[in-house]
Amino acid sequence: MNKKTVRDIEIGGKRVLVRVDFNVPLDKSGNITDDTRIRAALPTIRYLAENGARVILASHLGRPKGTFDDRYSLKPVARRLEELLGREVPVAEDVVGDIPRRAVERLGEGQVMMLENVRFYAEEERNDEKFARSLAELADVFVNDAFGAAHRAHASTEGVARIIPGVAGFLMEREIEMLGRALASPDRPFLAVIGGAKVSDKIGVVGNLLEKVDTLIIGGGMANTFLKAKGFDMGKSLLEGNRVDMARDLMDRAGASGVKFMLPVDLVVSRAADPEAEWKVVPVEGVPEDWMALDIGPESARLFGIAIGEARTVVWNGPMGVFEMAPFARGTFSIARSLAESAAVTIVGGGDSAAAVEKAGVADRITHISTGGGASLEFLEGRQLPGVVALQDK
Ligand code: 3PG
Repeated sequence: MNKKTVRDIEIGGKRVLVRVDFNVPLDKSGNITDDTRIRAALPTIRYLAENGARVILASHLGRPKGTFDDRYSLKPVARRLEELLGREVPVAEDVVGDIPRRAVERLGEGQVMMLENVRFYAEEERNDEKFARSLAELADVFVNDAFGAAHRAHASTEGVARIIPGVAGFLMEREIEMLGRALASPDRPFLAVIGGAKVSDKIGVVGNLLEKVDTLIIGGGMANTFLKAKGFDMGKSLLEGNRVDMARDLMDRAGASGVKFMLPVDLVVSRAADPEAEWKVVPVEGVPEDWMALDIGPESARLFGIAIGEARTVVWNGPMGVFEMAPFARGTFSIARSLAESAAVTIVGGGDSAAAVEKAGVADRITHISTGGGASLEFLEGRQLPGVVALQDK
């Protein structure tokens, strides 16, 4: 990575503003249901504290739309962080102004505090310069460890790095290196598995990966549009009729550049996306009129598994079916297991696929699971992430 990291700067005694992505899922009572993103930021926070920095954490949580709203307070996140760090993490009741300023003045070397949700101010998402300046005034240096929010050009991810020197934290560094190496210099064969509901969400990713991979596997709802383009009748399956030509074009491009393009050969179909509904496995040419595809079938999972087993780098983004429902989860879990069993460098790009490898119980056998959903997708599309661009070059 050509960006400076926390190792490249003097931090002892300095006030260090650290942007983390503590946008964690909460249940209806406000309990954290997955603390992966908090744990992923611990190495940076510990390193800074152990080296005598005064650590000021900033994050968003949810989308509170520019107003103070208790449901989006970062206090429960700070409590969880306290447990993990084994030290106190006071929360300033505000993001900018006198309250955080006084809290920072009280902060000793090696101590950690947290600002309230930066999205309590609409200026955050507008990347308002004055707001970024107020954030920057709290600190001497800026550390961005929020890979998950690096695709957002917001005040606390991008604006502040234009005012005080900004470097990457360890999580940010690892994410960029793992995803970057896979795209730039993968061990070959390089295989990508792309799934998810809609082609329209993944056009950029498929287009970019087609120029880099040896094999591309498409599954999930988006495969229906490709199967339609190949002339199969998809019954009541989710399908983007206006993307069929584009799907055909992507397959033609794969053919022209010698990329092996794999689609499901069989499907799990049902009359409704309902775990109680009757379901059956059919070949792709046999989807009944009133039925819909909700998962890849066992033969597809087997063939995809063989291809994954032959690869030396595998990137996976997007589930193979409606994996939240047990009858339609087998395809997704089977991909997760194939990645886990493979000797390849395996990279799972955030969001649903990260949840799937956790649920399949194989997360510890994956080389790298990204903490970014949208951010990892944009990275795989080959786009520059504003939160990374703004950091200092090496
Ligand atoms: C995420 O969860 O993907 C990041 O935290 C970004 O959140 P956002 O989509 O609300 O900007």
